[in-house]
Amino acid sequence: MLNTKIFIANWKMNKSFNESLLFVKAHMQELIKLAEHGTIILCPSFVALYPMIEFAKSYKHSLFFGAQNCSQFDQGSYTGEVDAISLYELGVTYCIVGHSERRLLFNESNSIITEKIKQLLNTGIKPIICIGETGQEYQAKQTISVIGSQLQPILEVLTTSKNLPAITLAYEPIWSIGTGVIPDNNHLAMVYEEIQKMVAKYHFNHKIDFLYGGSVDQDNTKSILNNDYINGLLIGGASLNFQKFQKIVSLQC
Ligand code: PGA
Repeated sequence: MLNTKIFIANWKMNKSFNESLLFVKAHMQELIKLAEHGTIILCPSFVALYPMIEFAKSYKHSLFFGAQNCSQFDQGSYTGEVDAISLYELGVTYCIVGHSERRLLFNESNSIITEKIKQLLNTGIKPIICIGETGQEYQAKQTISVIGSQLQPILEVLTTSKNLPAITLAYEPIWSIGTGVIPDNNHLAMVYEEIQKMVAKYHFNHKIDFLYGGSVDQDNTKSILNNDYINGLLIGGASLNFQKFQKIVSLQC
């Protein structure tokens, strides 16, 4: 592999079951080629995960499939929830947790998020952990204190885990998600330096990959990845179109 950068396609609820399956069916060979240039993780809706993983099994490939969420509970009377164990059984290797849409629209607190991370760690699924501040908090220069309060309980959980896999930590300023506005390089450098300092206090032996997410497209990919701290991208809107996603991944080669 030429490069180990990580590219996560977070489709949110923007592709139906059929559209998700069609994406891999139509582009499987090209996706296999893309995976030679980086770690490609496709995150469709829950229902599309299994058929996509099964379809991919008929190819020799190094693609990964991730869920967008999981339950904070392991099993029991939790109508409508999907447990991490079932995701693991399907062949899911990653799961997004703490995305701002879950935090804001579904009232997920830091403690719910840490419970979800525990479930993922117990099953061996690698969490893709999202943190980030609102536009208001950014304007009020509260970025570091906000991400610090999101990160601290997460780091506490990680430090007590016996089965720590590689961890992926994505900084996603909420004011950048879906807006076309991205932070300037000074802001990014300052944020990642602070995140690294917070993480360093916990002396992890495991690899932590630092990602950026929020309005990533083919025009800003190079400048974002020029930041030495950033080892990959969490891509929403631009990952829905195969050609756009392909361009983004190819740009870092
Ligand atoms: P966006 O979404 O690339 O459409 O801004 C990113 C995300 O929410 O993960």
